[in-house]
Amino acid sequence: MKDLQLAAAQIGKARHLVAFTGAGISAESGIPTFRGKGGIWDQYDPIILDIDYFKQHADKAWPLIKDMFYNVIDKAQPNPAHRVLAHWEQSGLLRTIITQNIDNLHQKAGNKHVIEFHGNTRDLVCLNCHKTTPVSQADMSQNPVTCPHCGGLLKPDFVFFGEPIPAAAYQKSLKQSLDADVYLIIGTTGIIMPASLLPYEAQKNGATIIEINVSPSNYTDSISDIFLQGKASDILKQLDHLILS
Ligand code: APR
Repeated sequence: MKDLQLAAAQIGKARHLVAFTGAGISAESGIPTFRGKGGIWDQYDPIILDIDYFKQHADKAWPLIKDMFYNVIDKAQPNPAHRVLAHWEQSGLLRTIITQNIDNLHQKAGNKHVIEFHGNTRDLVCLNCHKTTPVSQADMSQNPVTCPHCGGLLKPDFVFFGEPIPAAAYQKSLKQSLDADVYLIIGTTGIIMPASLLPYEAQKNGATIIEINVSPSNYTDSISDIFLQGKASDILKQLDHLILS
């Protein structure tokens, strides 16, 4: 396919390659995406992740949050798409991943330069004393889960609806997006702001936008220079092969 060859050539000669990933890259690791048939929002009411609802009804929200994320993500392993990106970072081709995902799979695959735009599921943060507790050190059988330091309510350390993006993650993501000369968008609908705005910043600053998705997204007809339609693992394996050969 001509577009694949074009994309491989752009990636192969990139000076500052940045990948921007969404739930689609982890779909093949068995983690459901948010939107679409069988997605998380088909099964759960998004109110559970509203910060005000969580503060008032933590006993109702926590069991569902464990079901949605912790019981699934703990068992999930990186798929070939994550592994190709790890290989590209190790070989000096990929500078940074900006991920909207909270599943830790880029790090599990071996990537070191990962900006977690929406936080992560590794840690819990106390809404009372603000101390952070790794999930591994919390009593996750409690409902709601409480802080081992002060007994306050623990909240997953990812961004809930109604919460701001962590400032450091936001600033680093913006800088990487502005510095990129090639920007690879993988498996995201591009509708959740402000994360969804980052690729536009890259494009305005002159980056070539390459997109991988099983179906068109908000970016496809607006800013994508090359749209590679297919599963993230299939397309990334093919790109890796073309870049190596
Ligand atoms: N390979 C590539 N793309 C895929 C695959 C796959 N195997 N499977 C699904 N996709 C694509 C879908 O076509 C869709 O465009 O992944 C995207 C998943 O979209 P969403 O579920 O909306 O996930 P995302 O865009 O990451 O959501 C953004 O929304 O609720 C919030 O905070 C949450 O970070 C999340 C944000």
